[in-house]
Amino acid sequence: MTAEIIDGKAFAARVREQVATHVAKLKEENDLTPGLAVVLVGEDPASQVYVRSKGKQTVEVGMKSVEHKLDVDASEAELLDLIDQLNTDPTIHGILVQLPLPKHLDEDLVINSIDPAKDVDGFHISNVGLLGTGQKSMVPCTPLGCLMMLRDYHGDLSGMNAVVIGRSNIVGKPMANLLLGDSCTVTVAHSRTKDLPDVVRGADIVVAAVGRPEMVPGDWIKKGATVIDVGINRIPAPEKGEGKMKLVGDVDFTSAAKVAGAITPVPGGVGPMTIACLLANTLTACCRSAGLPEPSGLTA
Ligand code: GUN
Repeated sequence: MTAEIIDGKAFAARVREQVATHVAKLKEENDLTPGLAVVLVGEDPASQVYVRSKGKQTVEVGMKSVEHKLDVDASEAELLDLIDQLNTDPTIHGILVQLPLPKHLDEDLVINSIDPAKDVDGFHISNVGLLGTGQKSMVPCTPLGCLMMLRDYHGDLSGMNAVVIGRSNIVGKPMANLLLGDSCTVTVAHSRTKDLPDVVRGADIVVAAVGRPEMVPGDWIKKGATVIDVGINRIPAPEKGEGKMKLVGDVDFTSAAKVAGAITPVPGGVGPMTIACLLANTLTACCRSAGLPEPSGLTA
């Protein structure tokens, strides 16, 4: 058996198209342009790449994009002041503070100072609580992207056994809540889980989000299961030449693809969905703030 490849790149392009169509309609019918502000503190190279990519894609779907770059030694007061300005700016509907923040800044304090209605990352404690209690919230982008792909592939997820490997606030925990919301039986596994291979072998859906290169081998995967690989790990690739690197997921793709029913590749799986869902969340936030109907299929 060879797994069907779930093409996240193509899926993300379709999500962006849907967002762009809705944005154009908002402009024409309501004279409204969704605006996304991204705040970057410091000069972490990976964060700079993400922020540039977010800005570019935001503009491509017809939204307003604003970037604020603060020095690596910016004070907490300076950052909170900027967030305050963005919270009250009527042209800004989404605010994203790129993580990780430099060590001297309190990440929880900063995130919880964002207006929850503009918290397009879904990291504010209010949104975490709303999601955890099954209420309408802003949903973290990466798990939202995973959910969209699972719903698209399976239709109804009700009654399926799902194992989420990883318990981070950004992916593992919200993913578990979203799968519960779709009536899966959910297990959250982590570094202290006993008999992890057996736990994973019971899963119809495996979401791997631990950040450990190729840690899930094919012989942990139940025949026909759907595997969503959130990991993006850069490892040496001597086969490509000296000093060369490559990206791999948390799942050993080659062996897993032989037993799974469907699998997301790395790169080209979950990765592209994250920014597409950020754009979807910004559109949703804009519609909610204006009391307009939300786009269908782009929220949980
Ligand atoms: N850094 C890595 N991933 C993310 C994300 O999804 N949101 C934010 N704000 N920072 C990140």
